[in-house]
Amino acid sequence: MTNQIVINDVGPRDGLQNQPKTLSIEERVSLITALVEAGLPAIEVGAFVSPKAVPAMAGTDEVFAQLPKDKGVNYSALIPNARGFETGVKLNVPLMSLVVAASSTMNEKNIRMTTAQSMSMSSDVLGMAKELNRNVQAYVATAWECPFEGIVQQDEVLKVTDGLIKAGASHIVVADTIGAAAPDAVHSLMSKLAAEFGADKLSCHFHDTRAMGVANVYAAIEAGIRQFDASIGGLGGCPFAPGATGNVATEDIVLLIEQMGFETGINMSKLLEASDLATELTGTARGGHAKAWLKQQK
Ligand code: COA
Ligand code: ZN
Repeated sequence: MTNQIVINDVGPRDGLQNQPKTLSIEERVSLITALVEAGLPAIEVGAFVSPKAVPAMAGTDEVFAQLPKDKGVNYSALIPNARGFETGVKLNVPLMSLVVAASSTMNEKNIRMTTAQSMSMSSDVLGMAKELNRNVQAYVATAWECPFEGIVQQDEVLKVTDGLIKAGASHIVVADTIGAAAPDAVHSLMSKLAAEFGADKLSCHFHDTRAMGVANVYAAIEAGIRQFDASIGGLGGCPFAPGATGNVATEDIVLLIEQMGFETGINMSKLLEASDLATELTGTARGGHAKAWLKQQK
């Protein structure tokens, strides 16, 4: 059994897409570079989406071109459709992430398709990915609760996950888009998904809206999950999901995970510098709940 837990920092995408201030390309690259220097093994660097829908993600192609390469970091980008996939292919993005919400209203608000339409479009993209030998994974959004439809049934999440894996998704990120899940529901769903599809195929993505992000990561670890999204400084939120605040902060879950005896490969001191930079650049990143204490330990 491996002792490693992989953290994918989604701050440069999920974190920046909903800020009052739009960062320049240079600022976005500087934040990603700080995360690379902190030893993050995986970073979501942006999204190939409509610049009208999410203005803050415009220029992700330029961001990608300026990233520090040869550092062994698994860079990824969000793609909402075939056009996003084509952009990712052109730029040789190593990992692309489709997103399908388990609740159809959320899916329509996010990418203007029903969940059924999205599954069909995603299958087409995954088919192309197979032909072109590209790595494409998928987010299953609103896996616990939808801001429009309320509680999401586990069977729906299992069905969407099954469809995406059968269509060729290399990995599934199970997302609590609005931060409404509680640890018992996380443990229950992730145990079922792990039994059905294998824990190594799964990650979790939690927002910290109700301060349960860290507890939810713990519950998912107990269910066998070893890969997590988190956001530097707790940045984040979805412009199309009312009420969602930032992701669980990377610094908070590194602390949890390492205290549990797992390794992340992340340098806490440098991570705190990246967190400070996130605050400086955006003016809104609150920093992890543990940040003040962590800084005293430096
Ligand atoms: N990249 C860049 N631009 C794109 C694009 C892509 N992947 N897909 C579509 N567009 C452009 C179109 O060219 C069109 O531009 P125009 O108005 O200048 O002609 C515009 O976006 C609308 O295209 P259309 O096909 O009519 O899409 P839509 O209006 O139904 O919107 C999405 C669908 C998916 C493009 C849009 O909702 C989107 O980008 N959503 C992003 C959601 C997101 O990032 N959510 C947060 C994370 S979960
Ligand atoms: Zn999110």
